[in-house]
Amino acid sequence: MAEIDKKYNIRPFIDPPLSNSDTEKVTLAAIDLSLFKEGDEYREQRKALANQLEKSITTYGFFNLINFGISNEEIEHIRAIAQSVLTLPDEVKLNYLASAATKEQESSRSVGGERGQGFKPKGYWAIKNGVRDSIDHYNFRDTYLDSFTERKNQHPEVVAHYLKDIAKYYNKIQREILPKILRLCDLILEVPEGTIEKNYFPNLGTNSDDSASHGRFMMYHPYANQTKSNKTDSTFLRGHSDISAITFITSQPILALQIKDYFDGGWKYVQHRQNSLIVNIGDAMEFISGGYFKAVLHRVIEPPEDQREFKRLVIIHFCNPSSSADLDPENLKSPKLETLGHTKQDKLKNWEKIKFHHWNYVKGSLLGRSEAGDRNLLQFFGRTIERWHHFQGTSLSD
Ligand SMILES: [Fe+2]
Repeated sequence: MAEIDKKYNIRPFIDPPLSNSDTEKVTLAAIDLSLFKEGDEYREQRKALANQLEKSITTYGFFNLINFGISNEEIEHIRAIAQSVLTLPDEVKLNYLASAATKEQESSRSVGGERGQGFKPKGYWAIKNGVRDSIDHYNFRDTYLDSFTERKNQHPEVVAHYLKDIAKYYNKIQREILPKILRLCDLILEVPEGTIEKNYFPNLGTNSDDSASHGRFMMYHPYANQTKSNKTDSTFLRGHSDISAITFITSQPILALQIKDYFDGGWKYVQHRQNSLIVNIGDAMEFISGGYFKAVLHRVIEPPEDQREFKRLVIIHFCNPSSSADLDPENLKSPKLETLGHTKQDKLKNWEKIKFHHWNYVKGSLLGRSEAGDRNLLQFFGRTIERWHHFQGTSLSD
C-alpha cells in the first residue's frame, strides 16, 4: 500500500488554519445523522431532526451534516487522491478532458465541460474582464453503477487505481446518506417515510439508477496577482443554484463559499465546521417541494487575506432524482404543502408539467451563456429562475 501510494504521490492535503478575519459568516445548523435511527420507537427522534432540518432548508437552503457515517480518515484518503489527480501534468489532463471541454463539442451545449466525465482544465471559463477561471476539476459519471469500477481505461492511471475507493465514497452518500435525508424531508412534508424516494428516486441504490448524479473533485488555485482578482471583483465562481436535488460538499477551513442570506439578501461566507459535509438543496428538490425548500444562490469568492495564498480542495457529490421524475409536488399529496399553498391551484399555477431531464437539459445548456448578467431573471416552464452559472463565456479562444 505504502509503495503504491508513493507511486501516485498520494499524500495528505494540508489545509491552512482558520482565518482571523472578522468578516460576517453564517454558521449553518448541524444535523446529526447519528440521531437518525430506524424503527417506530425512534419516529419522534427522527421527527425532531426533521424539524431542525426544516428550519434550514426552507431558509438558507444549506446545512451541515455531522456524524454521517463516513470517517474522517476516509474523507482524507479521498482528498489525498483528489490532490494527486488535480495536480497531474497538463499533458496527462489533456488526454482526459470532460466531454464538452473541446471547442467542437461545446457548440452542441449538451453536457457542458462543467459536467462531462474527466478534467475541466484551469482557464476554460471566462470569469470577467478577460480573466480566466482558476479552478481545476475532475468529474465522475455513473459512480453508482456496477460498471463504474470496471471502466478503468476512461481515466488516468491514478484514478483507475483508486476507482473502488472513489465509488465507495460516492455510494455511501448516494445509497446510505441521501435516503435518510429524503425520509427527513418526508417527515417535514407530513407524508409517509419513503414517499419521496418511491416517487422521485425509484431506482436509487440499484444498477438501473438513471439519475445522472455525479461526483467532482475541485481545486481552486489563488489568482496569480491582484489585478486578476480586482478585475473579477474577487470572484472565482459566480452566483448560481445547483441543478441537482441535493448536493454534498466536504467542509474545509478556507472562507470562500458564500451564500445569499435568506434574511437580509447579503452574501455571507459559510463558516467551516470540522468533520462535516456542507449540504444544499438544488433546483430539483426545490421544485419537488413546490418551492418550499430553497435552492439558494451561492458563489465562490476570494478568501480573506490570511488565506488568500492557499489552494482550496473540495469533494462534491451532486445527487439527482430519476431523469423521468416529475418536478412538482403533485405525487406527494403533502398536507403541509396544501396548507401552505404550494399547490397547482395556488402558488404553482404557472408551472408546466416537466420532468427532471427537461430541467437538466435546459439549465445545463445555459451554462456559460455569455449574455448572462449578475442577476438574470428568466422564465422556464413557468418557473422564474435567477440561478445558473453565469460566466461571461466559455469559448477557449476569447
Ligand atoms: Fe453549486
